[in-house]
Amino acid sequence: MTRRVRQERKNGNNREPGSRDGFISPVATPSSRPANTPSPIVEMRGISKRFGPVVANDRISLDLWPGEIHAVLGENGAGKTTLMNVLAGMYQPDSGTIRIAGQEVRITSPADALQRGIGTVYQHFTLVPNLSILENVVLGEDGFLVDLGAAEGKVASLLADFGLDVSPHTEIRHLALGQRQRVEIIKVLVRGSRVLLLDEPTSVLTPGEVTSLLDLLRRLRDQGIAVVLITHKLAEALGVEPGELVGASAPSTE
Ligand SMILES: Nc1ncnc2c1ncn2[C@@H]1O[C@H](COP(=O)(O)OP(=O)(O)OP(=O)(O)O)[C@@H](O)[C@H]1O
Ligand SMILES: [Mg+2]
Repeated sequence: MTRRVRQERKNGNNREPGSRDGFISPVATPSSRPANTPSPIVEMRGISKRFGPVVANDRISLDLWPGEIHAVLGENGAGKTTLMNVLAGMYQPDSGTIRIAGQEVRITSPADALQRGIGTVYQHFTLVPNLSILENVVLGEDGFLVDLGAAEGKVASLLADFGLDVSPHTEIRHLALGQRQRVEIIKVLVRGSRVLLLDEPTSVLTPGEVTSLLDLLRRLRDQGIAVVLITHKLAEALGVEPGELVGASAPSTE
């Protein structure tokens, strides 16, 4: 398994993504990958996003592979959340392309991303405290509740699988933060996400909860999910598994 972070450096450097003589490693053929490995689920190429004078993402290329945990590392303000928001359909990139399963796509909204199999757990949780776990899980982007009965069994089994010894009818307000986070993860997995983006998921957790979250992410990886762990803690990223750091960059103003 490989941790890969691939960003292009700016400073007027017009190097193409994947250039062998430059800062960025070759894109598709890392030596650690067996020949029969499937294609990446997501291919981001040359993604740039600026906010006024701030270049938050500068020509970033990133592949997400099934069955791998990818750590996107960077200090505060490095552009991690922006990159994730581009993939999650919150922002349109100023330039660059996104392919999902080889098809170039334009991700128009978070609901569109979810429909395309990209699920996001944000830095600030989105659950409604006075609704039950089940209601929160089935609550759609459009605010409509779908078939509760059909979802209950699935949610109950995911709760057990995720080590949450609570009923699907428990209200969110009764859960600890680490438990709420698992419900957020269940919420996107129930919708069939093959890519799971987590933005600084450990920042709200106790050390014990961090350990169990990382265990859970390894299990999801083993089920073929492409996990993206956004963090500014190097030790945490290194704690997931040995990997490969392929690039780094920082935002800048021009
Ligand atoms: N909506 C926005 N409007 C204006 N500037 C923004 C916006 N979102 C991000 N930025 C700027 O873009 C840069 C990258 O921000 P971003 O939030 O992506 O960084 P980050 O790596 O996630 O940081 P952190 O570790 O603090 O979460 C920062 O300079 C930030 O101020
Ligand atoms: Mg952030």
